[in-house]
Amino acid sequence: MTTTYAFWLAGRQETGPETHDVHHPYDGSVVAKVSIASEAQVEEAVAAAYAVKDEFAATPAYVRAAALDHVSKRLAERSEEIAQLITAENGKPIKWARGEVGRAVSVFRWAAEEARRFNSGEGQRLDTDAGGTGRLGIVRRFNRGVVLGIAPFNFPLNLVAHKVAPAIAVGAPIILKPAPATPLSALVLGEILAETDLPAGSWSVLTVPNDRMPALVQDPRLPVISFTGSDKVGYSILDSVPRKHVTLELGGNAAAVVLGDWNSEADLEWAASRIATFANYQGGQSCISVQRVIADASVYDQLVEKVVAKVGAQVTGDPTDDAVDVGPLVSEDAAKRVESWVDEAVNAGAKLLAGGKRDGANYAPTVVAEVPDGVTLATEEVFGPVLSLQKVDGVDEAFAAANDSKFGLQAGVFTHDVQVAFRAHRELEVGGVVIGDAPSYRADQMPYGGVKDSGIGREGVAYAMADYTYERVLVLTGLAL
Ligand code: SIN
Repeated sequence: MTTTYAFWLAGRQETGPETHDVHHPYDGSVVAKVSIASEAQVEEAVAAAYAVKDEFAATPAYVRAAALDHVSKRLAERSEEIAQLITAENGKPIKWARGEVGRAVSVFRWAAEEARRFNSGEGQRLDTDAGGTGRLGIVRRFNRGVVLGIAPFNFPLNLVAHKVAPAIAVGAPIILKPAPATPLSALVLGEILAETDLPAGSWSVLTVPNDRMPALVQDPRLPVISFTGSDKVGYSILDSVPRKHVTLELGGNAAAVVLGDWNSEADLEWAASRIATFANYQGGQSCISVQRVIADASVYDQLVEKVVAKVGAQVTGDPTDDAVDVGPLVSEDAAKRVESWVDEAVNAGAKLLAGGKRDGANYAPTVVAEVPDGVTLATEEVFGPVLSLQKVDGVDEAFAAANDSKFGLQAGVFTHDVQVAFRAHRELEVGGVVIGDAPSYRADQMPYGGVKDSGIGREGVAYAMADYTYERVLVLTGLAL
């Protein structure tokens, strides 16, 4: 019998009048039904979050830290069950789903640690001019109010964790809306949150159809919006509420830059293997998966041969199989879109070196070279297992090519030269530069976010806590300092 998942309204389980089927992307089977929150239920959750905001902000640090530690521990205890659920709802291979749960364990653990440190305050002497004699400033941070977290399908647990854990850490209530295709692991996270002593109303996990989101986005009781997803939707949210505090974690077409000094057999083996893995992990459905390889002419041919071989060696198939590297995309429609972009590029003159075939929601790991300017694959985020290769001459050309994108999330630079590493840090227009590895590396405590069309603001536990809060100074007067 198909299980029906309830949603979480102000910390308690509720069902609504309608349900929605969650499909397994690999075989199309119905994994579960999910109850959808009615408009009245959404209103109840928002009202409860708004009503509890002052009480929650005043909760002692030890209470919030204990709740976060509890979530971390329980995610670890239930990790295999949750990983299986992520694979079932999202189609990502089980090995990557296990990695995702491990990361969520660490996000909540980090948030507990940060909650203990948060808001100890910072003193600032003000007697630096005569008018400030006897005065001292104390700067502390206060949360901006209730957070509306809107999460994507590609990391259905960990990108939810990145919204929920920092909110709890700063005592800001959160209304979390998981992606309609992948709500199950977020609803299980709700089960774990319900085991804590967090006040009722401080969190809700609501299944709300996308077409009902504009009204929620407009709600004045939700002054903070944290969105992860496409640039199109992200900027339409920002444009619709320009006076709200909006954080956007959007797309990218991350480049792996392989420079001429990265030229030994071992260097090129490592680069090719990291590129092949991280172009295809989760079917390329990560905002920092490798989409572009920009390689110096002196290493290009050798690198391409290795990349093509390693991409061809990726094990595709049933994502529940431990040996599988690349499973389906989230839906057949997603795979058809990727197919149409590759076909467009090849018809315009790109060379297909591997892959290029679709079977239902599965798209074969694909490598193309000489992609003409202007085709969709050259300008947009493919969000699929497709690598585009580009040959350049020298560092100047390599960095110019990497920056030749409307996106700027992360870049990987394969070089041994520490001066070039610092130059990459200075010159690449991205939120993060990884030296000696693919751009897809992310530790969950790192600041994470982009420039240009890749978004606004940063996640990464302490950075999201800073983002959900603002500085308020207390000026003490008449002091003998
Ligand atoms: C993303 O797709 O933006 C998230 C990548 C990650 O957390 O590794």
